[in-house]
Amino acid sequence: MAASPIRFSIDGIAVEATEGQSVIEACDAAGIYIPRLCYHPDLEPSGTCRVCTCKINGRNGAACVTPASHGMIVENETPQLTDDRRTLIEMLFVEGNHPCPYCVASGDCELQALGYRLGMVAPRLPYQWPKHTIDATHPDIYLDHERCILCARCIVASRMQDGKTIFGFEGRGIAMRLNVDATGGLGATQMAAIDKAARVCPVACIVIKNDSYRVPNGERRFDIAPIGSDIEAKRKQAAS
Ligand code: SF4
Ligand code: SF4
Ligand code: FES
Repeated sequence: MAASPIRFSIDGIAVEATEGQSVIEACDAAGIYIPRLCYHPDLEPSGTCRVCTCKINGRNGAACVTPASHGMIVENETPQLTDDRRTLIEMLFVEGNHPCPYCVASGDCELQALGYRLGMVAPRLPYQWPKHTIDATHPDIYLDHERCILCARCIVASRMQDGKTIFGFEGRGIAMRLNVDATGGLGATQMAAIDKAARVCPVACIVIKNDSYRVPNGERRFDIAPIGSDIEAKRKQAAS
């Protein structure tokens, strides 16, 4: 006998999930966008950024690491949650160096796109102007620590999909930073441009050399439609 579907609601909308799906996976399939930053559909969720935090049965929970369960009541688009997410995004902007107008990722950057989607105008927190380095030791890849938002996607992809351990975090709190497993920089590791870890960075921290302007500014994915539109299009299509 087939298992009966898991049914829950998000912002009053009924959603069906299958056993083992997280809240974010079920909502993605149903065409409901929950803002996220560290979550990537091809990777095991790490739950590091907390941007996807929803009220789940009245308590805060990260939608990417919470399994869908029957009868759950989820709140996603409330003014308070939107403000909390905007604050998280603002903190990432001030804790790194993000000069969007001349960044290679502009228009294709999930951090920038979330700033727009969440209505961020200017950070309310003071800029910290941290001093980070750019690692250009690899022949095909730049590693620009100025932009890293410590989302852990590259760490998960390298370990779980590439079978390597190129990346890790060192330090804690505000001093935490991404590290590579060689003293000679990225160029001294086994990293290859075709690795999954080289393709999942949401910002311009891991950048493939000579590939940055393949799609010109103005024609990039978030120049064309806001982040989350692809997911929301599924629901609009189903309703038409
Ligand atoms: S990585 Fe994104 S947020 Fe940072 S400067 Fe580039 S476009 Fe802006
Ligand atoms: S390099 Fe990119 S993918 Fe890796 S932790 Fe930093 S922002 Fe995330
Ligand atoms: S997207 Fe869920 S914690 Fe980052």
